[in-house]
Amino acid sequence: MTRTILTIIWACLMVFEATNVAGAGLGVIWGRQQTQKLLPSMVVDLILANGVKKVRLLSYNSGVIAPFFNSDIDIVMTIANNDFFQTNTKNSARDFIQRNITSIMDNGTNKGIRFTSICIGNEPFSLQENMEQNYLPQLFPAFENIIDAVFEQQIGDKVNITIPHFTDILKPNITKPSEGEFHPDYRIPILRNLALLKKVGSPFMINLYPLLHLRQYGYPLEFGFFEDRKNFTIKDGEHVYTNVFDAVYDTVISAIRREGYSLDVIVGQVGWPTAGDEWASPETAERFYDGFLMKMAMNKGTPLHPEPLEAYIYSLVDENSRNISRSTMDRHYGIYNYDGTAKFKIDLTLKGRKNVIMANATGIDYMPRRWCVFNPEMRLDANSERLMRFYERACTKGDCSKLRYGEACNKLDLMGNYSYAFNQYFQSKNQNESECNFDGYAMIVSKDPSTKECVFPLQILSTLFDRQYGEMLLTLGYAGESFNIKPAMTTFIAAFLCILYTIF
Ligand SMILES: *[C@@H]1O[C@H](CO)[C@@H](O)[C@H](O)[C@H]1NC(C)=O
Ligand SMILES: *[C@@H]1O[C@H](CO)[C@@H](O)[C@H](O)[C@H]1NC(C)=O
Ligand SMILES: *[C@@H]1O[C@H](CO)[C@@H](O)[C@H](O)[C@H]1NC(C)=O
Ligand SMILES: *[C@@H]1O[C@H](CO)[C@@H](O)[C@H](O)[C@H]1NC(C)=O
Ligand SMILES: *[C@@H]1O[C@H](CO)[C@@H](O)[C@H](O)[C@H]1NC(C)=O
Ligand SMILES: *[C@@H]1O[C@H](CO)[C@@H](O)[C@H](O)[C@H]1NC(C)=O
Ligand SMILES: *[C@@H]1O[C@H](CO)[C@@H](O)[C@H](O)[C@H]1NC(C)=O
Ligand SMILES: *[C@@H]1O[C@H](CO)[C@@H](O)[C@H](O)[C@H]1NC(C)=O
Ligand SMILES: *[C@@H]1O[C@H](CO)[C@@H](O)[C@H](O)[C@H]1NC(C)=O
Repeated sequence: MTRTILTIIWACLMVFEATNVAGAGLGVIWGRQQTQKLLPSMVVDLILANGVKKVRLLSYNSGVIAPFFNSDIDIVMTIANNDFFQTNTKNSARDFIQRNITSIMDNGTNKGIRFTSICIGNEPFSLQENMEQNYLPQLFPAFENIIDAVFEQQIGDKVNITIPHFTDILKPNITKPSEGEFHPDYRIPILRNLALLKKVGSPFMINLYPLLHLRQYGYPLEFGFFEDRKNFTIKDGEHVYTNVFDAVYDTVISAIRREGYSLDVIVGQVGWPTAGDEWASPETAERFYDGFLMKMAMNKGTPLHPEPLEAYIYSLVDENSRNISRSTMDRHYGIYNYDGTAKFKIDLTLKGRKNVIMANATGIDYMPRRWCVFNPEMRLDANSERLMRFYERACTKGDCSKLRYGEACNKLDLMGNYSYAFNQYFQSKNQNESECNFDGYAMIVSKDPSTKECVFPLQILSTLFDRQYGEMLLTLGYAGESFNIKPAMTTFIAAFLCILYTIF
């Protein structure tokens, strides 16, 4: 009897082990451009609760990195575009890597942070993405200094070093993936990039947004999904492409091969927004992720790269303070809402299941049920410049993207528009009463002003303590305390459930 149970336990652990391996290629990105952020420790819990083992961070600060100490999560860290100038000399790069990576690196003892890659900037080539700021002159010195520092400090075999690119590095308007080529404007720096990657044995990184590609190329919506419906395909020699993701990925592979290189390609960001475009909704996003996660679960690559992929979902949580001068979509890429509630049912554990209820963030506190709305005693004048200025001010700090054409709150009347804007501003200011005034045009109410279509959100309580909390955890991390027992716990619970399941 004991023997049988032991065998079952062993089998169950093996099953669990195997599914972990399958999940090795999927990570999530935790972007942090929110007016109110989830606490780092909550985010780590959320990631672990969903069985995700890799995280990519788009910026680096001690508060963000701290909860990942001893956590059994692989970390891809990004030195943000505005930060890599800090590594523009050999010495400063050495110091930067020593302090921020090497000294806290997990040396195979499950203590510290398991850094697997360092990204130099995010899409630093892209003038379009960077609002015309040119980072290239600083980029390569930083890249080379960081490479030297990493190898000097003997972590070169543990971490890769790469530059994440946007797809504007590709020559546009090709007709099939095998025509893939780098954009002539970027070819020279790309060649430099390729040579360095080859030298250090690191992969090429591309950020890939399927919906943007459908729009750019005028492809039908169906081509965004993975259901092989054959409504629209691209024939390319012996290969047939049935979805835009594979097509773009292989375009990158072709472009690299054309330059005489053979490098792995990692998808640094991939995702589908839930608002901001006619084709962006929770339904379309769920359909995209369902297919994409199934592909990842089956370890299916692409026609030119049939091996398993490594990809990072953008993004974990909506970012309501991202700049939307390019697209409203940019604030709606989260697979979670701002408050850590799941937007849909998808299986991040890569077991290939449908309709999986995702874990929500736990321990969220909302601010009190108070909203800031237009004061109905004031005169509502569509042409008042003063009111327009207030509206603009409110919408610069608050997220008014849902008021735009085609979005959930576009059907509000004029007073509703002002109320929505004032409330977004007030909430972003942590419901500070002095921020709900606008010369008497605004007032605080306790009755929810939401309409059937348009939710007036209440913000969450948390950012106030973000920094302090993060640093407290960092201290614990350095002390080598094993405060984060969740990975062990999840393994244990999963194994336990598996055993129960097998026995009964
Ligand atoms: C990383 O290192 C640099 C240089 O030593 C330092 O200025 C910076 O504050 C460090 N960043 C963090 C988050 O510790
Ligand atoms: C890992 O080793 C390096 C030196 O090789 C050391 O500086 C670092 O503190 C170690 N990491 C941890 C978490 O102990
Ligand atoms: C957003 O980007 C645009 C275009 O680059 C810029 O003009 C604007 O100042 C930015 N807005 C904010 C709030 O940073
Ligand atoms: C690519 O095609 C689009 C639409 O077909 C067109 O507007 C654009 O000018 C083309 N770009 C180039 C570089 O040819
Ligand atoms: C670094 O990149 C190489 C080449 O793509 C890959 O084989 C290796 O597994 C990567 N290492 C890590 C730690 O991700
Ligand atoms: C694609 O084909 C499927 C059946 O194979 C059909 O149900 C669907 O309506 C088609 N979609 C479009 C946009 O043509
Ligand atoms: C998470 O939140 C969503 C949205 O509020 C809800 O539909 C779902 O049931 C929640 N999931 C769990 C596991 O509680
Ligand atoms: C409310 O604001 C949105 C976004 O600016 C605008 O499209 C809409 O027409 C406005 N509604 C009214 C009634 O003015
Ligand atoms: C509330 O807002 C006022 C006016 O902007 C500011 O002076 C005050 O410090 C804020 N209070 C808090 C607690 O942030």
